[in-house]
Amino acid sequence: MNQAKRILLLVGSAKLERSTSEVLSTYITDKLGEKGFESETMFAHKILKSDTAKDELMSSVGKADLIILAFPLFVDCLPYAVISMLEHIANNRPTSDDQKKQSLMCVVNCGFPEAHQNDTAIAICRQFAHETDFDWAGGLAMGAGEGIHGRELSEVKGMARNVIKSLDLAVEDLAQSKPVSQMAIDLMAKPLVPRWMYFIGGSARWKREAKEHGVRDKMWTRPYEK
Ligand SMILES: Cc1cc2nc3c(=O)[nH]c(=O)nc-3n(C[C@H](O)[C@H](O)[C@H](O)COP(=O)(O)O)c2cc1C
Repeated sequence: MNQAKRILLLVGSAKLERSTSEVLSTYITDKLGEKGFESETMFAHKILKSDTAKDELMSSVGKADLIILAFPLFVDCLPYAVISMLEHIANNRPTSDDQKKQSLMCVVNCGFPEAHQNDTAIAICRQFAHETDFDWAGGLAMGAGEGIHGRELSEVKGMARNVIKSLDLAVEDLAQSKPVSQMAIDLMAKPLVPRWMYFIGGSARWKREAKEHGVRDKMWTRPYEK
């Protein structure tokens, strides 16, 4: 009997509650779970905190057939916790030739509306895979991540229709041990909503949150202006 394939999901968002990174990537692991895959989830910011967690990371990396790296774009790059985690993997991954075949893919989302903002981060992940002997299984990039804001995709409804189509295609590819298709990549990159709508919604959210924190009248202050 074939053993179930194992997925290790590494979530790189620093949010304590559900992040867009987690929502997008657990959609993939849930669907692959329905196809008999086993998955384990670890959070980059927790791994950094202890040597035991780092040991557990390396043990889980060793067992995985597929690693999914899901994170938000921070300053056009990977968040610090993700970089640090990848450095730990690179420095501790066995280099023997008889290592089993393992793949790595990533799911990146950013705050700006354009998915291409994530291109550099995806290129970094691809280079990491290349240098650490993982087969590169592709990267899905989404713009306007705050449109999802950690909500379940079924709850987001119409706005997430292309995201769901993309993830469904990616699941089929990954289930067959193939890299994610260009169609999955293109669908993920489609705008969730028109730009003007995203900016109006985002602006309203900043104002609402400022009000909730009692600083609505301070939004335009410039304390460091000379
Ligand atoms: C410190 C920081 C830096 C960020 N840098 C960028 C950036 O360079 N480009 C961008 O489009 N979004 C940027 N964002 C926005 C996040 O990528 C965006 O809010 C994302 O949807 C968060 O995803 P998550 O819920 O998975 O954490 C930044 C957010 C933070 C907190």
